[in-house]
Amino acid sequence: MFDSMLEMGHERVLVGTDEATGLKAIVAIHSTVLGPGLGGVRMWPYRSFEEALADALALARAMTLKAAAAGLPLGGAKAVILGDPATEKREGLFRSFGRLVHSLGGDYITAEDVGTSSREMDWIAQETPFVTGVSVDRGGTGEPSPSTALGVLCGMRAVARHLWGDPDLAGRTVVIQGLGAVGRSLAEGLLAAGARVLGADPNEKAVEAARALGVEIVPIDEIFSLPCDIFSPCALGGTLNASSIPALRTRAVAGAANNPLAEPEADARLLASRGILYVPDFLINSGGLIHVYHEFIGRTFGETEARVRRLEGFVHDTLETAVARGILPLEAAREEAQARIDAARTLRARAWDQAVRRKTAELKT
Ligand code: NAI
Repeated sequence: MFDSMLEMGHERVLVGTDEATGLKAIVAIHSTVLGPGLGGVRMWPYRSFEEALADALALARAMTLKAAAAGLPLGGAKAVILGDPATEKREGLFRSFGRLVHSLGGDYITAEDVGTSSREMDWIAQETPFVTGVSVDRGGTGEPSPSTALGVLCGMRAVARHLWGDPDLAGRTVVIQGLGAVGRSLAEGLLAAGARVLGADPNEKAVEAARALGVEIVPIDEIFSLPCDIFSPCALGGTLNASSIPALRTRAVAGAANNPLAEPEADARLLASRGILYVPDFLINSGGLIHVYHEFIGRTFGETEARVRRLEGFVHDTLETAVARGILPLEAAREEAQARIDAARTLRARAWDQAVRRKTAELKT
């Protein structure tokens, strides 16, 4: 565990159990340099502690990058609960998890993720204030996915401006892989903007809801080879790889899915070699993070929407920087995020430095 933490740069990992409720949880705090680590709690039937730990560490590190790329005063953290969300979601278990979160004194703020929802956040909120994404009935702002979808839509406008000199998406063709919470909301926004939207999903209910909106449904195995302006991965991670990328007939890839590239560096290069612009996931899918962060600090829906819309500028600037410097957008986005973290670390070191000088001077007198 120490080796993994040191290699990936994690600050702290807390492992918690509770015999009374059956809780087995891991909280991974990657960085608190920019602020407290905000990241969801995932509930999943992991086969082993090692598998759960590896997931928590990787997810926490990705949150540091996502928050920094969005310019938020947040660090990166994530939690996992070992268990089956279909059968083991009990109030006692989540309240016990809430007490674990509280023991970190605010260095970690939790929220929903795969396998958890605002109902569980309501239970956690009974034990700690360091939770966001609680239900509207309990004074929260509910589901973050519409904000994630809005952020992706704004990112697509930046792509259009970058590639075609006009952010307007009217008349553009977008293929969405995965018509779940984010994919459906994104389709709605795109159709309202005048785009043509095609999509696929193995889930019949998701397909029917999307069809009702006006999405043209296509077979799942044909999704990669459809000619389009933008391909949008909004299903699970790793769908773009050495076998699917050569089939793509698009100008850009921009979607909500976390880690859509199976091998980030190699696949980003493969996309670039085919003349396909890849917008990094952590840069374009932070609308949901902005949503839960704004709930935590008490901002209004209007303020949240305005902040999410600023992603258009963030994405556009990164794409332009990448061209100017002759590097990939993935590299540019990573470097920009890292520069924000490094600058904050320097400021923090200076503040400490001043505090020590003051104390030393005080002791001398
Ligand atoms: P979701 O679970 O509501 O929707 C995912 C959809 O993908 C499901 O309808 C599923 O049937 C479909 N799917 C699975 N395999 C597929 C395949 N091979 N081809 C086509 N469709 C397939 O999840 P949600 O919330 O919409 O999230 C989508 C992605 O965006 C996930 O990767 C998630 O981690 C990421 N994300 C979501 C955020 C949010 O606010 N919900 C925030 C940031 C990232």
